[in-house]
Amino acid sequence: MSSKIIVSGMRPTGQLHLGNYFGALENWVRLQNDNECYFFIADWHALTTGYEDTSELSANIDEMIIDWLSAGLDPEKCTFFLQSNIKEHAELHLLFSMITPLSWLLRCPTYKDQMNELKDKDISTYGFLGYPCLMATDILIYRSTAVPVGEDQLPHLELTREIARRFNFLYGEIFPEPEAILTKAKILPGTDGRKMSKSYDNTILMGDPPDVVAQKISIMVTDPARIRKTDPGHPDICSVFAMQKIFNETEAPSVESDCKAGKIGCVQCKKQLAEKMVELTGQIYERRRHYSADKQLIRDIIHAGNKKASETASRTMAEVRKAMKIDWR
Ligand code: TRP
Ligand code: SF4
Repeated sequence: MSSKIIVSGMRPTGQLHLGNYFGALENWVRLQNDNECYFFIADWHALTTGYEDTSELSANIDEMIIDWLSAGLDPEKCTFFLQSNIKEHAELHLLFSMITPLSWLLRCPTYKDQMNELKDKDISTYGFLGYPCLMATDILIYRSTAVPVGEDQLPHLELTREIARRFNFLYGEIFPEPEAILTKAKILPGTDGRKMSKSYDNTILMGDPPDVVAQKISIMVTDPARIRKTDPGHPDICSVFAMQKIFNETEAPSVESDCKAGKIGCVQCKKQLAEKMVELTGQIYERRRHYSADKQLIRDIIHAGNKKASETASRTMAEVRKAMKIDWR
């Protein structure tokens, strides 16, 4: 596989959970080894739906940086930075907004969906409508060739390619058309069996301490028909088993048959799962303690990333201004 220029971003939502880890970070950590990677915290994107209350934004950014580092993103291998620190994103966003037809934004499926879903927020704003255009900017300003995203973001990537094509047609070839790297859909069930999500309050955080992980698992609902340990269980309807399949792949088949045969109790089964999960989270927890204790280190890392990102971004912008002939001096 030849090396790609990869860009991806995440809104700062606070401490990340295991669903976020398997949905994105695990992939990023792998990609950083043999590609030119730019990973950033999309704080301007957070404003598109959360402009009213910004009180937690700054703390959420800190938590996310700590999680990224703890998950194994390595500032020596990738460039990671804060979107709002790279002002060139704002300039290119403005220029793209000139050439992006309103109809492209209005027909974005995520636009209609979110307008319906987020009824409690007033997102009938200019910024919210234009957010896929901002996303196109994030990607194209680094001349990215590949973008790891979830399926829900595919329409935005299509729009990104359309904007690149339109720009290149109007002013000359500047931007490549990036392809999607679809994160393989490993949807992690939460502690209630539904998809793990902050809004369902069913998460296990990447950096939960081992005793909290064990506690969260211990109160999970299992097969409700099972009262005694010797009752045959139904692992296929049990959320604990759904997690066993992900965190304890090798032992899952024997857990399954033991459960069906009434040979393993739920308490023991949960204990086994917690041990496996802590093999991952325990490490992250330890690293979190290290990074949380050193605010200056985190700042130094982001500042170094910002510097690298802004070198690439300003190089692209010089070419863009020239191509558009708005480099009057
Ligand atoms: N829109 C993405 C999300 O909400 C976050 C994002 C912003 C992004 N800019 C990006 C993802 C650029 C990939 C590339 O999840
Ligand atoms: Fe679920 Fe495990 Fe109990 Fe079976 S033994 S019902 S898989 S928790």
